[in-house]
Amino acid sequence: MPSGPLNITALHGALRWTAAHHASYEFLFTVHAGKWGTMRVLVIGANGKTGRIIVDRLREGAHDPVAMVRSEAQIQRFADRGVDTVLADLEEPLDPALEGCDAVIFAAGSGSSTGPDKTLSVDRDGAVRSIAAVEEVGIQRYIMLSAMRADPESEGDPISHYLRAKGIADEHLIRSDLDWTIVRPGRLTDEPGTGRVRVAPRIETSGSVTRSDTAAVLVAALDHPSASRRRFDLLEGDIPIATALDGL
Ligand SMILES: NC(=O)c1ccc[n+]([C@@H]2O[C@H](COP(=O)([O-])OP(=O)(O)OC[C@H]3O[C@@H](n4cnc5c(N)ncnc54)[C@H](OP(=O)(O)O)[C@@H]3O)[C@@H](O)[C@H]2O)c1
Repeated sequence: MPSGPLNITALHGALRWTAAHHASYEFLFTVHAGKWGTMRVLVIGANGKTGRIIVDRLREGAHDPVAMVRSEAQIQRFADRGVDTVLADLEEPLDPALEGCDAVIFAAGSGSSTGPDKTLSVDRDGAVRSIAAVEEVGIQRYIMLSAMRADPESEGDPISHYLRAKGIADEHLIRSDLDWTIVRPGRLTDEPGTGRVRVAPRIETSGSVTRSDTAAVLVAALDHPSASRRRFDLLEGDIPIATALDGL
């Protein structure tokens, strides 16, 4: 038996992982989740367009968001909503930001207004750094907002540089010991959400999906057993989100 103080975060993560990987232990997690089921979820990229919706969804649901932001000026917006914040940058060590958290949703991105160097330092290396830090502190659950066509070998696509960066981060996550989910949406839009989507391991047609529905899928995936260790494409569709995840 290990000695020393009981690490609740690590215990929670271990129970989640066990329940997700061994059906016979599912009852254990159900009992556990019923009592201590609220997770503190670090949202990386919380101030982004999708990140803000993720934070609002978490606030409305069963879990507590912690908004990871890059500047003091961004803190007030979340404080006004009663949301905890932490100042951190993906280009620097992340361990302090993870303190007290039970799960991570990665929704950051360097965006199209920065150069290709930021695609590497944020979308690829920042994501990889966050995965390593999450492993290091003993958190288990990691939800990645990736992109359709993300592929470490992408060539010949107008955004291959970006798709390779996202693909390399995704492969790193898959090779980790974490309990991961990788959500790969098509083009993100700012239309109102519908609560209905289309998901599949690969969707060959291109298309779009709202940031609202994408955020809802990321949050639903947190404690949806079928989403554990799954990578899937996401487009607008006509299947209710929970049902769509059931079918993964
Ligand atoms: N746009 C699309 O059609 C599309 C399609 C598929 C997937 N995606 C992916 O979806 C995700 C979210 O997209 P979005 O359009 O909602 O993003 P967004 O509005 O551009 O927000 C990105 C967030 O990432 C943060 N960020 C940038 N660099 C950072 C760093 N070094 N450390 C910490 N945070 C950093 C930004 O912080 P600040 O607020 O401080 O700038 C911002 O809050 C991205 O990962 C993107 O790659 C996008």
